[in-house]
Amino acid sequence: MKFFIDTANLAQIKEAQDLGVLDGVTTNPSLMAKEGIKGNDNILKHYVDICNITTGDVSAEVIATDFDGMVKEGELLAELHPRIVVKIPMIKDGVKAIKYFTEKGIKTNCTLVFSAGQALLAAKAGATYVSPFVGRLDDVSTDGMDLISDIRIIYDNYAYETQILAASIRHPLHIIQCAKLGADVATCPLSAITALLNHPLTDKGLAQFLADAKK
Ligand code: G3P
Repeated sequence: MKFFIDTANLAQIKEAQDLGVLDGVTTNPSLMAKEGIKGNDNILKHYVDICNITTGDVSAEVIATDFDGMVKEGELLAELHPRIVVKIPMIKDGVKAIKYFTEKGIKTNCTLVFSAGQALLAAKAGATYVSPFVGRLDDVSTDGMDLISDIRIIYDNYAYETQILAASIRHPLHIIQCAKLGADVATCPLSAITALLNHPLTDKGLAQFLADAKK
């Protein structure tokens, strides 16, 4: 399974890259705002800065919600760097825009996906990635993992190449569950990735080995 980091924070992206396990980055307008990135030029420059840290795909989201606007913004984003993936919301014009970019050979990430039907549409339009938001489904008492499982079955039934990019990951157990269900990618906060490192028996065992090594 690929690990993406879900942040626009350059220090966190670098930390994950230096760990040697990072396969890409996802951002969204909320994550950009959280880092205080304002103004079109600064936002575009920030995407390039992210591309210069990671060696994987970097999702950059359009703000427009109409087809022409999404195409204009997406083309500008795609020109920034060969590894930019145009992130497009799951709405009617978004599906049309995904199809447009697919035919032009530009990678897309269909975001804000909360149902298997939406994921099926994204795959039919040729999205490179589909982003089901598992944590936000959990927030409304619906098991986000059921959606990952349903999408996996549907995509395997028809050999769709769209990659399941599990998003809105909140904790390490989400990552493990997604891996068991066959998600292609999990995009995670740094804290969820580093939490995978921890086990008290590892700490206890290492302390014992180090103590014994001095004997
Ligand atoms: O990848 C989507 C993500 O940024 C949303 O996460 O925690 O706001 O639901 P969250």
